[in-house]
Order: sequence, then structure tokens, then C-alpha cells
Amino acid sequence: MAAPQADKYTQFVSRGVGKDLAKRLGLPQPALLRRFDPTAPLLTGPVLVEGSTPGADALATALLGWGLDVRRHATPKEKLAAIVLVLDAIGDPGEFSVPVRSVGASLRDLLPNGRIVTLSRPAAAELEPALAAARHGVDGFVRSLAKELRAGATANGILLADGVEPDAASALAALRFFLSGRSAFVDGQFLTAGAPGGGGPVDWARPLTGRVAVVTGAARGIGAAIARTLARDGAQVVAVDVPAAGDHLAAVANAIHGTALQLDITAADAGERILEHAFARHGRLDIVVHNAGITRDKLLANMDAGRWDAVLAVNISSQLRMNAAFLADARFHAKPKIVSVASTSGIAGNRGQTNYAASKAGVIGMVRATAALLAPYGGTINAVAPGFIETEMTAKIPFATREVARRLNSLQQGGTPEDVAEAIAFLASDAAAGISGNVLRVCGQNLVGQ
Ligand code: NAI
Repeated sequence: MAAPQADKYTQFVSRGVGKDLAKRLGLPQPALLRRFDPTAPLLTGPVLVEGSTPGADALATALLGWGLDVRRHATPKEKLAAIVLVLDAIGDPGEFSVPVRSVGASLRDLLPNGRIVTLSRPAAAELEPALAAARHGVDGFVRSLAKELRAGATANGILLADGVEPDAASALAALRFFLSGRSAFVDGQFLTAGAPGGGGPVDWARPLTGRVAVVTGAARGIGAAIARTLARDGAQVVAVDVPAAGDHLAAVANAIHGTALQLDITAADAGERILEHAFARHGRLDIVVHNAGITRDKLLANMDAGRWDAVLAVNISSQLRMNAAFLADARFHAKPKIVSVASTSGIAGNRGQTNYAASKAGVIGMVRATAALLAPYGGTINAVAPGFIETEMTAKIPFATREVARRLNSLQQGGTPEDVAEAIAFLASDAAAGISGNVLRVCGQNLVGQ
């Protein structure tokens, strides 16, 4: 698959006269982001593992096992592709200073598109206050550092639940995602490794080999990119969309050697029809991606029942009904993976989108509550919340509004449908088996709202 293009402005200011002009005028200079290429190495430079706990040692050993060039101490002036900061045993805010300043001292040596990833533990309310303060301090540290980084570099964090060590399979899977080009547009975010995960070697180049995945809303936009990305990662894909989008749907399905299912997901029997199609045509169903979604924007004062009801019906009620059908079918009980597409509007809110934000916040609530229902089957459910993504939908926004919206994040550019798809492919893989009930924003650290 060809690397997705950056927007025209980003391309213009990346080289030559455009670069000089932007610099002189103090204009934003978004970087060309490093995107995932299965044939390229995970990192092209050394990774520094900061931290002095046994967990840091174990993690460094695991990274050596990936063939990475691992440093346990910074060498002056040596350029670094990534810095991994292990804070798994921090007990008091006073303990931050040394490891964090050590990272600070290496920042000037971070290569373009570099990565900083912390591993720490979640701050639960029942903890002793100083411990909770230390743990939650990491949150503010990472989110601020992400805003300081330049040249396409990102900072993200992994939260290790009790009993999950830094070298647990789920922690390593999350780390690999954050280090790789798969997370190009994920910045200032956290993933929680709630269980150790594990179970057999992972084919990192084609992690979905042998899996059957359903993608709703696959005829175009983000859904089509998800279908292509899951297929690239080895899955057989059932592409679902409304009959009116039949031609585009068939084109997407054919291009990836998948199958097309024309279906309105608001139909009462949508879940059953998906199960029937997947088992009849592919013999199994492992992954469901709830991507289909609509907007019907209006200020609440002008909102009619039709707009409100249509958005809620497509974006959340259909997902609840389909999930109930999937959960009721024993054939879907072998480590199933569900990923739902939410939106940053469902987190921060958006003027004119009370209906849409209610539906997308609903998705987040549903995902958190469904995680426990899938756990007995070794299954997971997570949400991905895209920010400003370059699609036909956002291309229709008037120029000035669009230009502001796409620059208002730490990476100063919109994401691509493929950026959303990469996050979904990761969460749908067995490597992510210990990650469930998470909401991962793919928004370049949108500066508006929460
Ligand atoms: P899109 O409008 O380009 O594509 C949505 C697809 O879903 C269409 O092919 C449509 O026919 C299909 N669909 C709609 N209702 C359906 C139904 N009842 N049954 C079956 N299929 C149906 O949208 P886009 O931009 O690709 O968005 C995909 C998802 O990402 C949506 O859930 C959207 O809310 C979400 N999202 C998009 C963002 C963006 O910047 N484009 C930002 C945040 C979230």
C-alpha cells in the first residue's frame, strides 16, 4: 500500500522554498509523519531505556530480543530513535526528578519522528495519596511533553495494572504500537495493559493471519481504510455497508479479496445476518469493527426528532443490538475482538453535535461496560476516538474553518483514515489481548477540550 499523503500545506513547508518561507513567517511547520511500513525496521536508531528497576532491566532485555539497538545510559550526542522511561515502581512525587531530567537531557538528541513512551502504574482512588499523586503525575508529564516535542515526535504512556510487569506480552504489544509508525497520529495518550496477555509468538508483519473480520461502513472513508489495513495484516474481511453504497462496497471487497455484505446496520437482525454471512462464507468470525456512523448536525434549539433519532440509531443503538447477538452466539466465543469507532466529539463535546456527541460518548460507555462481558471468553472490546481526519467529510468543511481545525493539535495536521485503521488493527490483534475497555484517541493530541 502506498504511504498516505500529507495535506498540501504540510508537503509545501517540508522542503525547499516552502520550508524557508514558513520559518521566516513563523507559520506552522507540520512534519511529514513516519507511517507504518511492514517491510521497514521498527526503529532506525538506538532506543534508550531509562529506569533502574528490575522491570526496566527485563524490558531492555525484551527489546534486545526484537533486534533493537538498546542503550541503558545515554551516550553524549548520540542520536536516539526512542526513549522508553520505566516508572513502574515510583512511590512519591519526589522520585520523579532524576529519571525525568535524564530524559530531558536526551531530548535534543531525539531523531525526527522519534518516540517517547512511559511505563507506569494507574492511580486508583483507593491508593495512599502520595502514591496516587506520583502515579497520576505521569499523566500530566506525558501530555505536556507531547506538546513540547517537534518534528513528528510523539510521547505516549502505558499503564500497567497490578500483576502486569513492563515485559508482559500486553505491555510489549502496546510499546511496539507506540514505537512503530502505526501510531503516527497518536500523541499524548495512554493505553492500559489490564492483563499480562501473551500466548504464543506474534507475527508482527501480518498479525491478523487466519482471522476473519467484519467492518461496517466499509464502502468509503475510514471504513474502507480499516478494511484494507486489516487485510494487509492478514485478515479475511467482510465489508458491510448500505445497499445504496453497493458498487463502492464491492470495489473495496474485491480489491482485498474479501466479501461484501449489503446491510443496513439498524436492521433488527443485523447481528444475526453478519454471523450468518461470516460463517457461511468464511467459516468463522473473530473481529468486529463498528465503524459505520453518521452526523446530522444542528444546534439543540433547532434539533428535530428525525436528526436526533437517526444519529443515535446508527451510531450506538445498532452496536448494542449487534453486540448482544454476537455475545449470544457460542461460535463468537473464541477470543473475540470488538473495536468501536468513537470520536473526540464524544469526549470534548462539539457545538452543533449534541446528538453525535451523545452517541459517541455512548459508544465509550458501552465499550467500558462490555469489556467484562467479553473477558470470560478471552475477548476484548476497545474504542478508537479519531480527531480531525482527512476524509471526503472533512474536505467539505469551508477552507478557513478546516485549516484551523486540522492545525489545532500537537502535530499541526490532520490524520489520515489509515492512522485510525492502524490503531484498530493493533487493538484487533491477539498481541493486544491484555488491553480491553480502553479508549484510544487518534487525534494528534487535539488541543481543544479534554
Ligand atoms: P463516511 O460518511 O465517509 O463513511 C461512513 C460509511 O458508513 C458510509 O459508507 C455509509 O454508507 C456507512 N453507513 C452509514 N449508515 C449506515 C448504516 N445504517 N448501515 C451500514 N452502513 C452505514 O464517514 P467517515 O468519515 O469515514 O467516518 C467513519 C467513522 O469515523 C464514523 O463512525 C464517524 O463518526 C467516525 N469519525 C470520523 C471522523 C472524521 O474526521 N472523518 C472523526 C471522528 C470520528
